Amino acid sequence: MSLRDDLADPRPGRGGLPPVAALESDAPVLDLSGVWSFRWTPTVDEAPDDMPSPDTSGWGRMPVPASWVMPALDELAAAPHGSPAYTNVRYPFPLDPPFPPDANPVGDYATVFELDEVPERAVLRFEGVEGAATVWLNGVELGTTRGSRLPTSFEATPSLQLGANRLDVRVAQFSAASYLEDQDEWWAPGIIREVTLRTRPVGGLDDVFARVGWADGVGSLLVETPVPATVEVPELGIQGSSGERFEVPAEPWSAESPRLYETIVSTDTERVVLRIGFRSVSVAGGVLRVNGVAIKLRGVNRHEHHPELGRAVPRKVMDAELALMKQHNVNAIRTSHYPPHPALLDAADRLGFYVIDECDIETHGFGDVGWRRNPSDEPLWREAYLDRAARMVERDKNHPSIILWSLGNEAGTGQNLRAMTEWIHDRDPSRPVHYEGDYDCEYVDIWSRMYASHAEVAAIATRDEPALDDPELDARRRAMPFMQCEYAHAMGNGPGGLSEYDELFEGSERIAGGFIWEWLEHGIRDAAGRMRYGGDFGERVHDGNFVIDGLVSADREPRPQLEDLKAVFAPVVLTVAGASLTVRSRYDVIDTAHLSFDWVIERADGVVSRGSVDVPAIPPRGSATVALPAPAVPGSVLTVSARLAEPTEWAPAGHEVAWGQESLVAPASFPQAPTFPEALEVTPAVTLDPRTGTPTSIAGIPVADWRLELWRAPIDNDFGVAWGEAERRPLEERWRAIGLDQLASRLVSIDGSTVTTRVGGAGRDELVELICRWGSDGSAVLLDVTVTPLVETDQEWARVGLSFTLPTAFAGMRWFGLGPGQGYPDTGQANRLGWHAAAVADLPVPHVRPQESGSRRGVREVAFTDGAQRFVAEGEFAVTGRPWSTEAVASATHADELQPDGRTHVVLDLAQYGVGTAACGPGVLPDYRLFAHPITATLRFSSTDSSPAA
Ligand code: GAL
Repeated sequence: MSLRDDLADPRPGRGGLPPVAALESDAPVLDLSGVWSFRWTPTVDEAPDDMPSPDTSGWGRMPVPASWVMPALDELAAAPHGSPAYTNVRYPFPLDPPFPPDANPVGDYATVFELDEVPERAVLRFEGVEGAATVWLNGVELGTTRGSRLPTSFEATPSLQLGANRLDVRVAQFSAASYLEDQDEWWAPGIIREVTLRTRPVGGLDDVFARVGWADGVGSLLVETPVPATVEVPELGIQGSSGERFEVPAEPWSAESPRLYETIVSTDTERVVLRIGFRSVSVAGGVLRVNGVAIKLRGVNRHEHHPELGRAVPRKVMDAELALMKQHNVNAIRTSHYPPHPALLDAADRLGFYVIDECDIETHGFGDVGWRRNPSDEPLWREAYLDRAARMVERDKNHPSIILWSLGNEAGTGQNLRAMTEWIHDRDPSRPVHYEGDYDCEYVDIWSRMYASHAEVAAIATRDEPALDDPELDARRRAMPFMQCEYAHAMGNGPGGLSEYDELFEGSERIAGGFIWEWLEHGIRDAAGRMRYGGDFGERVHDGNFVIDGLVSADREPRPQLEDLKAVFAPVVLTVAGASLTVRSRYDVIDTAHLSFDWVIERADGVVSRGSVDVPAIPPRGSATVALPAPAVPGSVLTVSARLAEPTEWAPAGHEVAWGQESLVAPASFPQAPTFPEALEVTPAVTLDPRTGTPTSIAGIPVADWRLELWRAPIDNDFGVAWGEAERRPLEERWRAIGLDQLASRLVSIDGSTVTTRVGGAGRDELVELICRWGSDGSAVLLDVTVTPLVETDQEWARVGLSFTLPTAFAGMRWFGLGPGQGYPDTGQANRLGWHAAAVADLPVPHVRPQESGSRRGVREVAFTDGAQRFVAEGEFAVTGRPWSTEAVASATHADELQPDGRTHVVLDLAQYGVGTAACGPGVLPDYRLFAHPITATLRFSSTDSSPAA
């Protein structure tokens, strides 16, 4: 068969061995990862006809594993090697299944490895090749691979030789299989996971299936092997053989208590070590239960991406990622949208995560053509679907962390998906099957949705969801637990509404929780070291920065939303009131004996006192109230923290898990009676420009560009159409339509020290009046501000802010209020009240696509500091400080375009719009929207801050 014909074959790859479990064995393994010879050709037709023995002398080089298109590999590849391309739903080629396009790049790989002994039997295993590979060993074709994030093993024995062995792999980027791999991510071909040569002892354990269960304190184990083997679990005194069922008292495995038992399975020739966890999963009675206990999934969706290597994530990076998740109270991972690198599952077993293992299937782009010829429903593709299901289940079946198998993502619906379920139910009845695209839940075991609004979740929680047409299906679905496989799209500044979702999840046993979309941004570092997104590599078809939507950056730096998530997902809730502390546990399985509690009382001048407090071990879902040794003193803030008492693999002892606060700081008030002079001169000095009425200096500090700001540099959610709302125009469009992005103002009057201006957008008559009444309380400048819409309108504003610049770069900002991170009306759950400080340059969030960010909320006092110089504002507001303007943020397309302009740009917000999650999902909840309405506030300005520490 010609390569062209081969690539158009929708069936699974040829020549592979039946799929088996990923096992840790004492049989020798030779890891062939490293730098291989590499040659790239833009199309299959142009690819030289020299396989399997090409002359590689003129070739470049390519790391294995890696995606070959990555710009960071330019130097190594030494010649053109294609570029990454990003699409979300659309295929980057016409829908002409099963044919791939002619523009089908080819990567040829070659490597040589030495053997000083030829094993009696050996298998060549590819953990993942993105694209369609043909493999030759010493010139002999072993077969082909399909299914990019699934393993393929070939019999290598007959082709191996003593000394040098030559391995050649030709990978075509596209094939019929590409129609099944339309996930929202970069198209990034290559040998993306390890390649190993595995000795297979004769009479050895090619496969092992440890079937486990747990109920009422008793764990059950049945080990299946292809040849008779002995089974030992030393810790439990189990000693027996494969095929035998053991039932012994054992501790259960859960994400909260990931108890593993080393299990040795052996034959005369091979010894395999498993780390089994006893646990059972059920969905009976409409509740997702592990070991009989209802659980809540506080999860994230995790893709595999690295800014330099593409789909290959170095082990260290992955380990650090999982530790970061645990540190942020994440207890579940959906491996969106394909089985992960197998090492992830070992780590998940060990660290404790509930995992939804998802199969490598997505055909989303067929949705754009009304699902015509969707592979999910065409017999032609049945074998490929079943092959992928088998390869996932067989590889991963021994992991206690996997509680649900997922058929794939956004692949419409059809007979092939149903057939996958049937196969999985038969092979592994111990785990329910998940697939969001089966809306009517005809062939899945749990009801899953993505981005359901709060209102929909609330209805589902009480089983008040709209009925399905078919009463039988409706009854079946109504009896199922519910989860959101994706919610709260973490793109850019957001998501808002997390706390409200969490409340709904907590409030109903039916709601098993959900998975934030998504863990990671997929930025790619270009050759100049800059972070890039879709369209930056000359793609004709692309979806821009929709791929930058994570809780952490591509470099795994936490975004503020990760900190918020940690607070929302906290497994204990601490309430401090008076001299008592109430701890409410949200653990489903374990008590709180692993936590220690301490408190600290702080004032503007630092820590007043601190100590620890004993809290008895609280049972799962229980609570306790204890007296605090030291009540807070006036003017202070009392914070109580729950911390890890002992170190774990993922955090040191003392790691803070949750906290609670009580404030004894009196609300802002300005006790001195203000005076409002009859003339423009106010003491201490405010200088107002008599022509415009705007201040040119306040409290002796020069200021400029004073104006009312009702707009924000649009966040990603502002560009989205909120799901389920009648209004189809995104906020960004609505705000622009009424001119909020370029307000103009006219001085109406200056009456003594009262300045009245009118503000509006070009061509619009919805005018807004701004009245600034300047005065003094003897030592500082007082300002009464009134903002009034002059016509009745249902307009919404992004903010009501007083915006100005300090004409020099004030390096620091100190504030008393919520911090240390940013907050908007519907975010900022991570923030606590206190005395905070940060460099102005660090206040904005370095979003890959710049947008509004960095606001600090609940602020009573802020001081911009520049050496000994202070600019201080007091009142009740949110403050944004940055070294560049709103306009600069709004017009930049990439973070590296923003450069400090030498000034300090300040916005004091009296009100703000929430951020929501409309980039994908519902918009801002009603409570967090900002409708045009009159607002008044009093502010006090001076050049001395109350904090003595300069
Ligand atoms: C979902 C999809 C994800 C991602 C997300 C938006 O529909 O399953 O893969 O595309 O939307 O970022």
